[in-house]
Amino acid sequence: MSAPARSVATARYLVSVITVHRGDNLKVLRPFADGAFDLIYIDPPFNTGRVQRRSRVRTRADVDGSRTGFGGRRYAVENVASGAYGDSFGDYLGFLGPRLEEARRLLSATGSLFVHLDAREVHYVKVWMDTLFGRSSFINEIVWAYDYGARSTKRWSAKHDTILWYAKDPERYTFNAAASDRLPYMAPGLVTPEKRARGKMPTDTWWNTIVSPTGKEKTGYPTQKPLAILERIVKVHSSPGDQLLDFFAGSGSFGDAADRHGRDVTLVDESAEAIRVMRARFRGREVRFVPVRAAR
Ligand SMILES: C[S@@+](CC[C@H](N)C(=O)[O-])C[C@H]1O[C@@H](n2cnc3c(N)ncnc32)[C@H](O)[C@@H]1O
Repeated sequence: MSAPARSVATARYLVSVITVHRGDNLKVLRPFADGAFDLIYIDPPFNTGRVQRRSRVRTRADVDGSRTGFGGRRYAVENVASGAYGDSFGDYLGFLGPRLEEARRLLSATGSLFVHLDAREVHYVKVWMDTLFGRSSFINEIVWAYDYGARSTKRWSAKHDTILWYAKDPERYTFNAAASDRLPYMAPGLVTPEKRARGKMPTDTWWNTIVSPTGKEKTGYPTQKPLAILERIVKVHSSPGDQLLDFFAGSGSFGDAADRHGRDVTLVDESAEAIRVMRARFRGREVRFVPVRAAR
């Protein structure tokens, strides 16, 4: 049985450990002991029917380049990186179901599982999870609403994702309300100055922009999720010393959020490009990369 890597105490503070496994998550997860993790977040492929791809372009000064910049200078534009993963499943639950079963097995007695999806599959997955956990274990359907990109004139543009929260034991789970960020009141004039200063607790609808295509947070990996969403989950649903897991890690956003708050985290992804992005993202942190074969 494997155990997740633990924080190391240095002379001054506790350093959390990020462990990254490359491989098919079902195989990687099997050796971990029952109850090894306190908080699991997953963001599986959404079954969009497409290959998810994101390309990054770099410009360099070139008199023959195709782009004209400031002062009439010419620049050449080249593609320097492209992350991609398949996102088309004939039998989506046939793929995700066994992985959700592993997630439940791996949860500690007070653990919670967060499953990030969109409108395409969330209803099927919710029914599956009700059966797996029991309906009383369903605690929240969190709607992450954003406002970015093109608008359709043929239907309402889809601008939200859904995050399902299930607790292993609906009577005993971590919800550190005091650790949550607070939001400004919409009508601050209607509340007391104390309330105004404290802000209000978020509800199950989380307004947050997507990762900015030009911002510092961007890794270039397709479907990268924003740190603000994941940090809220880490802070409210885990405590220092807990073990966290994301087995569809992608660019490692959940791992980044966990590490920023001093939680040990195990990440799994089968894509070489995801591992490359995580190596760059976690440079200088306490991180261990487990090679494919050793992960079995
Ligand atoms: C939606 S992306 C995750 C994005 C991530 N939350 C982020 O913020 O960057 C889904 C990831 O699951 C990975 N994946 C798909 N099937 C997998 C499997 N069977 N085992 C491990 N990883 C898998 C893909 O390579 C992809 O990186």
